Amino acid sequence: MTKRIGIYPGTFDPITKGHLHIIRRASKLVDHLIVGVAVNAGKNPRFSAEERVEMAETDIANMPDKHCEITVEGFDHLLIHYAAEKNASCIIRGLRAVSDFEYEFQMTGMNAKLNKSIETVFLMASDEWQFISSSFVKEICALGGDVSEFVTPSVLTKLKNAA
Ligand code: COA
Repeated sequence: MTKRIGIYPGTFDPITKGHLHIIRRASKLVDHLIVGVAVNAGKNPRFSAEERVEMAETDIANMPDKHCEITVEGFDHLLIHYAAEKNASCIIRGLRAVSDFEYEFQMTGMNAKLNKSIETVFLMASDEWQFISSSFVKEICALGGDVSEFVTPSVLTKLKNAA
Protein backbone atom coordinates (compact mmCIF):
# COMPACT_ATOMS: atom_id res chain seq x y z
CA MET A 1 0.00 0.00 0.00
CA THR A 2 1.29 3.54 -0.74
CA LYS A 3 2.62 5.41 2.25
CA ARG A 4 0.42 8.41 3.07
CA ILE A 5 2.62 11.46 3.58
CA GLY A 6 1.46 14.72 5.18
CA ILE A 7 3.21 18.06 5.61
CA TYR A 8 2.63 20.28 8.63
CA PRO A 9 4.21 23.61 7.65
CA GLY A 10 4.95 26.65 9.76
CA THR A 11 7.61 29.10 10.83
CA PHE A 12 7.90 27.51 14.30
CA ASP A 13 9.73 30.50 15.78
CA PRO A 14 9.70 28.73 18.20
CA ILE A 15 7.63 25.54 18.27
CA THR A 16 5.03 25.67 21.07
CA LYS A 17 2.84 23.15 22.87
CA GLY A 18 0.00 24.25 20.58
CA HIS A 19 2.00 23.08 17.55
CA LEU A 20 2.93 19.85 19.34
CA HIS A 21 -0.72 19.12 20.05
CA ILE A 22 -1.53 19.45 16.33
CA ILE A 23 1.50 17.30 15.40
CA ARG A 24 0.45 14.53 17.78
CA ARG A 25 -3.07 14.48 16.36
CA ALA A 26 -1.87 14.75 12.75
CA SER A 27 0.33 11.71 13.33
CA LYS A 28 -2.87 9.64 13.54
CA LEU A 29 -3.87 10.64 10.02
CA VAL A 30 -0.80 9.79 7.92
CA ASP A 31 1.99 7.21 7.78
CA HIS A 32 4.75 9.80 7.66
CA LEU A 33 4.38 13.36 8.90
CA ILE A 34 6.91 15.93 7.73
CA VAL A 35 7.11 19.04 9.88
CA GLY A 36 8.19 21.65 7.32
CA VAL A 37 10.01 24.58 8.90
CA ALA A 38 9.68 27.56 6.56
CA VAL A 39 12.82 29.64 6.36
CA ASN A 40 10.34 32.57 6.02
CA ALA A 41 12.78 35.46 6.00
CA GLY A 42 9.81 37.82 5.54
CA LYS A 43 8.79 37.19 9.15
CA ASN A 44 12.28 38.05 10.38
CA PRO A 45 12.41 35.06 12.74
CA ARG A 46 14.16 35.30 16.10
CA PHE A 47 15.76 31.86 15.65
CA SER A 48 17.68 30.64 12.61
CA ALA A 49 16.10 27.95 10.45
CA GLU A 50 18.64 25.45 11.84
CA GLU A 51 17.71 26.34 15.42
CA ARG A 52 14.00 26.06 14.67
CA VAL A 53 14.48 22.64 13.07
CA GLU A 54 16.60 21.50 16.02
CA MET A 55 14.03 22.70 18.61
CA ALA A 56 11.24 20.89 16.75
CA GLU A 57 13.32 17.72 16.44
CA THR A 58 14.10 17.71 20.16
CA ASP A 59 10.47 18.29 21.16
CA ILE A 60 9.21 15.61 18.78
CA ALA A 61 11.85 13.12 19.94
CA ASN A 62 10.54 13.65 23.50
CA MET A 63 6.89 13.35 22.47
CA PRO A 64 5.53 10.18 24.12
CA ASP A 65 2.52 9.23 22.00
CA LYS A 66 3.45 9.53 18.32
CA HIS A 67 1.37 7.46 15.94
CA CYS A 68 3.61 7.56 12.86
CA GLU A 69 7.10 8.42 11.69
CA ILE A 70 7.68 12.17 12.12
CA THR A 71 10.59 14.04 10.56
CA VAL A 72 11.50 17.71 10.58
CA GLU A 73 13.15 19.66 7.78
CA GLY A 74 13.53 23.21 6.52
CA PHE A 75 12.13 24.46 3.23
CA ASP A 76 12.57 27.77 1.48
CA HIS A 77 10.29 27.70 -1.53
CA LEU A 78 6.60 27.43 -2.33
CA LEU A 79 4.79 25.16 0.10
CA ILE A 80 2.79 23.45 -2.64
CA HIS A 81 5.95 22.69 -4.65
CA TYR A 82 7.64 21.40 -1.53
CA ALA A 83 4.63 19.17 -0.75
CA ALA A 84 4.67 17.76 -4.31
CA GLU A 85 8.43 17.08 -4.13
CA LYS A 86 7.82 15.10 -0.96
CA ASN A 87 4.95 13.14 -2.56
CA ALA A 88 2.63 14.43 0.13
CA SER A 89 -1.07 13.81 -0.31
CA CYS A 90 -2.04 16.48 2.20
CA ILE A 91 -1.01 19.66 3.97
CA ILE A 92 -2.13 19.83 7.58
CA ARG A 93 -3.00 23.15 9.20
CA GLY A 94 -4.19 24.00 12.68
CA LEU A 95 -7.14 26.36 13.03
CA ARG A 96 -7.41 28.44 16.16
CA ALA A 97 -9.77 31.40 16.44
CA VAL A 98 -12.16 32.50 13.69
CA SER A 99 -9.54 35.09 12.72
CA ASP A 100 -7.33 32.31 11.30
CA PHE A 101 -10.06 31.30 8.90
CA GLU A 102 -9.77 34.03 6.27
CA TYR A 103 -6.02 33.62 5.79
CA GLU A 104 -6.30 29.83 5.75
CA PHE A 105 -9.21 29.99 3.29
CA GLN A 106 -7.14 32.13 0.92
CA MET A 107 -3.99 30.08 1.29
CA THR A 108 -5.86 26.81 0.71
CA GLY A 109 -7.56 28.30 -2.34
CA MET A 110 -4.26 29.48 -3.82
CA ASN A 111 -2.55 26.18 -3.12
CA ALA A 112 -5.45 24.28 -4.70
CA LYS A 113 -5.17 26.46 -7.80
CA LEU A 114 -1.48 25.57 -8.02
CA ASN A 115 -1.97 21.83 -7.44
CA LYS A 116 -5.41 20.24 -7.12
CA SER A 117 -4.11 16.84 -6.11
CA ILE A 118 -2.85 17.95 -2.69
CA GLU A 119 -5.59 18.43 -0.10
CA THR A 120 -5.40 20.76 2.89
CA VAL A 121 -6.71 19.24 6.10
CA PHE A 122 -7.60 21.40 9.11
CA LEU A 123 -7.43 20.36 12.73
CA MET A 124 -9.16 22.59 15.26
CA ALA A 125 -6.84 23.70 18.04
CA SER A 126 -8.13 22.60 21.44
CA ASP A 127 -9.46 25.18 23.95
CA GLU A 128 -6.18 25.07 25.81
CA TRP A 129 -4.15 26.26 22.79
CA GLN A 130 -6.63 28.65 21.11
CA PHE A 131 -4.80 31.86 21.90
CA ILE A 132 -1.17 30.86 21.76
CA SER A 133 1.20 32.19 19.10
CA SER A 134 4.97 32.11 18.78
CA SER A 135 5.11 35.93 18.77
CA PHE A 136 3.20 36.23 22.05
CA VAL A 137 5.42 33.61 23.64
CA LYS A 138 8.57 35.50 22.54
CA GLU A 139 7.18 38.85 23.69
CA ILE A 140 6.00 37.59 27.09
CA CYS A 141 9.33 35.87 27.70
CA ALA A 142 11.37 38.90 26.63
CA LEU A 143 9.38 41.07 29.07
CA GLY A 144 9.99 38.70 31.95
CA GLY A 145 6.70 36.76 31.90
CA ASP A 146 6.41 33.03 32.56
CA VAL A 147 5.88 31.01 29.37
CA SER A 148 6.67 27.58 30.82
CA GLU A 149 3.03 26.56 30.30
CA PHE A 150 3.31 27.14 26.54
CA VAL A 151 6.66 25.65 25.52
CA THR A 152 8.77 22.65 26.53
CA PRO A 153 11.69 23.09 28.95
CA SER A 154 14.26 22.86 26.12
CA VAL A 155 12.55 25.63 24.12
CA LEU A 156 12.18 27.67 27.31
CA THR A 157 15.96 27.53 27.82
CA LYS A 158 16.54 28.67 24.22
CA LEU A 159 14.05 31.52 24.65
CA LYS A 160 15.67 32.70 27.86
CA ASN A 161 19.13 32.59 26.25
CA ALA A 162 17.85 34.59 23.28
CA ALA A 163 16.12 37.24 25.43
N1 COA B 1 -0.56 26.32 18.14
C1 COA B 1 0.21 27.36 18.46
N2 COA B 1 0.49 28.37 17.65
C2 COA B 1 -0.04 28.30 16.44
C3 COA B 1 -0.85 27.24 16.02
C4 COA B 1 -1.10 26.21 16.95
N3 COA B 1 -1.88 25.16 16.67
N4 COA B 1 -1.23 27.46 14.76
C5 COA B 1 -0.67 28.60 14.40
N5 COA B 1 0.04 29.11 15.42
C6 COA B 1 0.77 30.38 15.44
C7 COA B 1 2.13 30.31 14.82
O1 COA B 1 3.12 30.07 15.78
C8 COA B 1 2.27 31.68 14.22
O2 COA B 1 2.69 32.58 15.20
P1 COA B 1 3.47 33.91 14.82
O3 COA B 1 2.71 34.59 13.71
O4 COA B 1 3.45 34.64 16.08
O5 COA B 1 4.84 33.46 14.38
C9 COA B 1 0.86 32.10 13.86
O6 COA B 1 0.04 31.30 14.65
C10 COA B 1 0.53 31.91 12.42
O7 COA B 1 0.76 30.54 12.11
P2 COA B 1 0.76 30.05 10.62
O8 COA B 1 -0.42 30.55 9.92
O9 COA B 1 1.01 28.58 10.63
O10 COA B 1 1.95 30.86 10.01
P3 COA B 1 3.41 30.46 9.97
O11 COA B 1 4.19 31.69 9.77
O12 COA B 1 3.79 29.61 11.11
O13 COA B 1 3.46 29.57 8.61
C11 COA B 1 3.53 29.19 6.24
C12 COA B 1 3.04 30.08 7.37
C13 COA B 1 4.99 28.87 6.39
C14 COA B 1 2.76 27.90 6.23
C15 COA B 1 3.27 29.97 4.92
O14 COA B 1 3.85 31.25 5.03
C16 COA B 1 3.89 29.28 3.71
O15 COA B 1 3.33 28.34 3.18
N6 COA B 1 5.06 29.76 3.27
C17 COA B 1 5.76 29.21 2.09
C18 COA B 1 5.63 30.13 0.88
C19 COA B 1 4.34 29.87 0.14
O16 COA B 1 4.06 28.79 -0.31
N7 COA B 1 3.55 30.94 -0.01
C20 COA B 1 2.30 30.88 -0.76
C21 COA B 1 1.14 30.53 0.14
S1 COA B 1 -0.35 30.44 -0.79
